[in-house]
Amino acid sequence: MHIRMSMIFLWILCQCFQYHLCCNIHDLEYDFGLKNLSMTIKKKEAIVTWDCDVPREKLSDVSYAIYLHWEYEMEVKGCGKEIVLILPDDLPTPICVQVAPVLHDKNCPNASEICLNPGRNEMEENIQCITYNISSIKCTWTFAKNLPHETNFSLTLIQDATIIHCQQYAYDMEMRTGYCSFHDLTINYFENVLVMLSKKGSEDHVLKDYFKPADKELFNPPRNLTLTYLEDNVLLSWKPPHTQYDVSESCFIYQMEKNKELTSDVSNPHFINIETKCSVRIRVKGENICGMNENWGQWSEEISCGKFTPCK
Ligand SMILES: *[C@@H]1O[C@H](CO)[C@@H](O)[C@H](O)[C@H]1NC(C)=O
Ligand SMILES: *[C@@H]1O[C@H](CO)[C@@H](O)[C@H](O)[C@H]1NC(C)=O
Ligand SMILES: *[C@@H]1O[C@H](CO)[C@@H](O)[C@H](O)[C@H]1NC(C)=O
Ligand SMILES: *[C@@H]1O[C@H](CO)[C@@H](O)[C@H](O)[C@H]1NC(C)=O
Ligand SMILES: *[C@@H]1O[C@H](CO)[C@@H](O)[C@H](O)[C@H]1NC(C)=O
Repeated sequence: MHIRMSMIFLWILCQCFQYHLCCNIHDLEYDFGLKNLSMTIKKKEAIVTWDCDVPREKLSDVSYAIYLHWEYEMEVKGCGKEIVLILPDDLPTPICVQVAPVLHDKNCPNASEICLNPGRNEMEENIQCITYNISSIKCTWTFAKNLPHETNFSLTLIQDATIIHCQQYAYDMEMRTGYCSFHDLTINYFENVLVMLSKKGSEDHVLKDYFKPADKELFNPPRNLTLTYLEDNVLLSWKPPHTQYDVSESCFIYQMEKNKELTSDVSNPHFINIETKCSVRIRVKGENICGMNENWGQWSEEISCGKFTPCK
């Protein structure tokens, strides 16, 4: 009897809460309900993200309360962020996350819920892309052991109105990797692209990578390495690698390897001492302040810079 009474009391309390103490979502001139709630489970983390139709200047007024199996976790302001929840070991499956809009510290009735069974995550959250050879982007991903061999994927690259579907996929089933290249790209290298991998015919198991192509560009070798022999030394000069965009020469940093010895920050042109046996090659990386990748690109061909010693 006691339990029954308290249940009824609780029910009444909930109704009061719902109708009197909650935010009234219709008071606002904009809809701040959740749109596109999605979740990815990755080892011990759930990554949750959602959109909303709130005007940009109002985003700091709206908050969302996040619950893991109805246990309160945190409150976050605004939409479009990736929220990481640490999953305890003893969590029941499927893993369910609820997100409720909050207005003036009051929960709103429209909570959304998403549930995912981690056992169904057949692909590892692991996709990596590089920009190379001036106008190509290559992406590589790994899949987990339980993925059926006949599964087909679709990889799509998106920037604004540009949507490119991968034309040719390659798989290495032993290594459990897949890869695909996009060629002859005419996108903006300094704006984000979204690369999405999904199982064909399903919305499931989507891996995403979001990056600026210039951030991941591995440069072709410097071009046209030229040696000019002077009286006591040799002048080595070159041209910067081709890029898809205009860039100042000062955005490139060069490294030289001469007789297996590395010299960093070599300027163009560069004097080298004459030695009888000499070979040299050059590679290039970008300057961070120019928004370019700071990993070394490909080495140029090795050229011989040995002194010509006439027979006596
Ligand atoms: C809240 O839910 C009601 C009923 O499902 C729906 O009509 C309304 O549009 C929702 N409001 C928001 C802001 O999502
Ligand atoms: C929800 O996702 C779709 C497709 O990605 C997108 O077109 C739409 O703008 C999103 N909704 C909001 C409110 O951002
Ligand atoms: C680089 O691109 C050029 C022209 O687009 C192509 O001819 C060449 O084969 C490519 N090189 C590599 C290593 O992919
Ligand atoms: C995967 O694609 C290949 C080639 O397009 C096709 O022959 C095969 O039937 C597809 N498999 C599935 C499961 O869709
Ligand atoms: C390479 O550099 C040399 C010397 O500056 C020049 O004569 C030649 O035209 C250049 N070649 C190319 C392909 O730019």
